[in-house]
Amino acid sequence: MQAQEPELKFRTRRWVKPEDLNPNHTLFGGSLLKWIDEEAVIYAILQLNNPKVVTKFISEINFISAPRLGDIIELGIVATEFGRTSITLKCEVRNKITHEPVLAIEKMVFVNVDEDGKPAPHGKTAITFSKDRLKDDPATLN
Ligand SMILES: CC(C)(COP(=O)(O)OP(=O)(O)OC[C@H]1O[C@@H](n2cnc3c(N)ncnc32)[C@H](O)[C@@H]1OP(=O)(O)O)[C@@H](O)C(=O)NCCC(=O)NCCS
Repeated sequence: MQAQEPELKFRTRRWVKPEDLNPNHTLFGGSLLKWIDEEAVIYAILQLNNPKVVTKFISEINFISAPRLGDIIELGIVATEFGRTSITLKCEVRNKITHEPVLAIEKMVFVNVDEDGKPAPHGKTAITFSKDRLKDDPATLN
């Protein structure tokens, strides 16, 4: 089922530091992919309300421009589809100051798994937001 209004939310910022660079003195792609995978799996865990979620599929990765030392970048993620056991996300990275696009991934699929690592139905059909999840569990507001 298609999620309603799949608008990217840029919640995570990163400051490009010396240890994140490649020998060309621009951001190392592996560092960026690690940040994206972690951000995306956290998003999937929160949406599916299950800490056992695994990366299944990542589509073409388009490195559009190369951030440099000291740049601030931001990662945007949104759910585009809720399957039976899977969730599909879209990801974009841009320069925080200039909004110049840095990277785009059209499709990242995560699968909700059970204790044995087997795909398990998640029962979710649409994006939820923190305020709604906290409302469901007032204890977490403390
Ligand atoms: C994730 C895993 C449990 C899925 O097992 P599987 O036998 O492929 O499961 P299924 O065929 O039932 O598919 C599960 C879901 O993934 C989706 N899926 C499977 N292959 C896919 C692919 N190539 N592209 C997109 N979605 C895919 C299916 O459509 C299904 O979604 P749905 O239930 O919402 O319709 C298994 O492949 C696995 O353990 N992979 C390793 C995961 C991992 O270690 N990730 C870390 C990366 S290093």
